[in-house]
Amino acid sequence: MNNRINSYFEKTVPIIEQNLEKYLTNKNDNGLSNVMKYSLLSGGKRLRPIFTLESYKLFSNGATIEKALPYACALEMIHTYSLIHDDLPCMDNDEFRRGMPTNHMVFGEAQALLAGDTLLTYAFEIIATNNLASFESRVRAVEILSKYAGFSGMAGGQMIDLDSSNNISSLDELFKMHSLKTSGLIKAALVLGYVASCDKLDNLIIKDLEKIADNIGISFQIRDDILDETSNLAILGKKTGSDSKNGKATALKFLTINEAEAVIDNLTNEAILLLEKYYTNDKNDCMLIELAKYLINREK
Ligand code: IPE
Ligand code: IPE
Ligand code: MG
Ligand code: MG
Ligand code: MG
Repeated sequence: MNNRINSYFEKTVPIIEQNLEKYLTNKNDNGLSNVMKYSLLSGGKRLRPIFTLESYKLFSNGATIEKALPYACALEMIHTYSLIHDDLPCMDNDEFRRGMPTNHMVFGEAQALLAGDTLLTYAFEIIATNNLASFESRVRAVEILSKYAGFSGMAGGQMIDLDSSNNISSLDELFKMHSLKTSGLIKAALVLGYVASCDKLDNLIIKDLEKIADNIGISFQIRDDILDETSNLAILGKKTGSDSKNGKATALKFLTINEAEAVIDNLTNEAILLLEKYYTNDKNDCMLIELAKYLINREK
């Protein structure tokens, strides 16, 4: 990891984590918030909230991030819920996540299910009560997050993934699944940052952000598929070989590692070209571009 990205993460991740923790403090809830906290505060790269904050910064001319933080945290809650459910025995049946035993291994399946449900529903409460944003902005944020977490995004993609060895017979079909299950929440991330920055939204900008996120998300999932075959538990924080154990269709069903990496390069470069259209001010730090470049070769 280069120094700039490293110090960026060191500075930004704690801000996100302090806010996530704040939302789960002093809850009188028969232990449910402890089950949620176990997964929500167990590390993770925090990429989706980071994308939201950086998109917000890009479109708000350097305003402070407070207004976008609730949207960013809501998105990370939905991402964490998706991971808790993804690991359940009825889905990928995995035992490690973020370097620790998965939620259901520690608390039991029913508790893990409820922790996921509650992270999902709480996310929308957090958006609806973001007092720093206008009502119009909050409604748009609900619309975007529900769209990209649901039918037209993560859950829709997970549905295809369940039976991917039968459902997916070409690279094109595989990328359509990646686009739903993984690009979905990245689309939500970039568009939520824009929605937090202003009330009058330009549909062409939303289209560009969706395209950027689509390419970054597909690349992200291709790298995830590669790492599932080539990495190890100590580095990745999850047990490798999960996809082959479950007979999943992944990028490596259709491509060699070199070919898959070439696709990651091409898709990411296309995303960077589109981002350059927006980073026009010399004073900009171009952090979304830096992040996209860093993700090309990520090791976890
Ligand atoms: C894992 O996402 C799920 C995929 C979409 C591949 P991340 O790799 O961002 O997981 P964390 O949040 O860093 O644990
Ligand atoms: C993405 O796919 C999972 C979600 C969209 C929640 P994977 O099942 O490959 O993710 P990991 O490898 O378990 O993190
Ligand atoms: Mg899965
Ligand atoms: Mg999985
Ligand atoms: Mg995986």
